[in-house]
Amino acid sequence: MKKEKVLIVGAGGQIGVELALALRNVYGNDNVIASDIKEAHPILRDSGPYAMLNAMDAIAMLELIKKEGITQVYLLAAVLSATGEKDPKRAWDINMQSLLQLLDIAVQEKLTKIYWPSSIAVFGSTTPRNGTPQQTVVEPRTVYGVSKYAGELWCQYYNQRWGLDVRSLRYPGLISWKSAPGGGTTDYAVEIYHEALKHKKYTCFLSEHTYLPMMYMDDAIRGTIELMEAPQEMIKSRMAYNLSAMSFSPAEIAASIQKHIPEFTIDYAPDFRQQIADGWPASIDDSVARDHWNWKHEFDLDKMTAAMLHNLSK
Ligand code: SER
Repeated sequence: MKKEKVLIVGAGGQIGVELALALRNVYGNDNVIASDIKEAHPILRDSGPYAMLNAMDAIAMLELIKKEGITQVYLLAAVLSATGEKDPKRAWDINMQSLLQLLDIAVQEKLTKIYWPSSIAVFGSTTPRNGTPQQTVVEPRTVYGVSKYAGELWCQYYNQRWGLDVRSLRYPGLISWKSAPGGGTTDYAVEIYHEALKHKKYTCFLSEHTYLPMMYMDDAIRGTIELMEAPQEMIKSRMAYNLSAMSFSPAEIAASIQKHIPEFTIDYAPDFRQQIADGWPASIDDSVARDHWNWKHEFDLDKMTAAMLHNLSK
């Protein structure tokens, strides 16, 4: 087991639950403290230490870090794209304040590594939509995207100014079965599997041919840990890395489900999230991550569909 003491902030969310389990495998259950503003998710409570922590409470965060002798922090607390548009100032405050206070604590306490996720939401409608490169026009139009891009710049700044080892990935839409997503534009790609099993039909809030970059959670978790374990000299970008696995539309994921559930039907009732999706890339070029630290995805659409339906029907 490696000698690190890890704190996950916002561990009760879609990524946090699975990342906590994976990190507990790497560092030992007792060396990974999961925290969130809410009561522990049963998976977290049963697998290791848990603390209640408001990500915006700098004093409580510092105290917990000192008390537990934390060496690495994964800050996952965030308001996502769809929820963010309902109260933009709140999204900005939560997403930014939690990061800025952690960056200061990390420098002060000499933490060895920080992880902070970014998103494809940093891109906007002026960005090349297909095969969006690592470095390109970046003009986000959602408050979530604005906060993620600003955060990337802060992470890069703290790395250059203070030598802080902070690493980041631009996640595509993440699809998981252990924990539910909350408030994102890509959430339809999770809901659709639940509805396919329960009701054999789904009404999608995005239109039929809306292509978005997507990834199965297993790939995202492995990618995150591989990024964090890579030697410093491989991390040549301190902005977040583009990360990609697949790109599909609602019609294509429906067709993939119909291979297992032929009677499944989908219809479409696009809402305000359509406009968010229309401003995002359809597919991502992640060759820089593949080149710098050997990123490689394992799940394509059909492999993911088989895994999702299998795991959700258990
Ligand atoms: N899944 C996120 C969202 O839809 C994108 O990072 O907001």
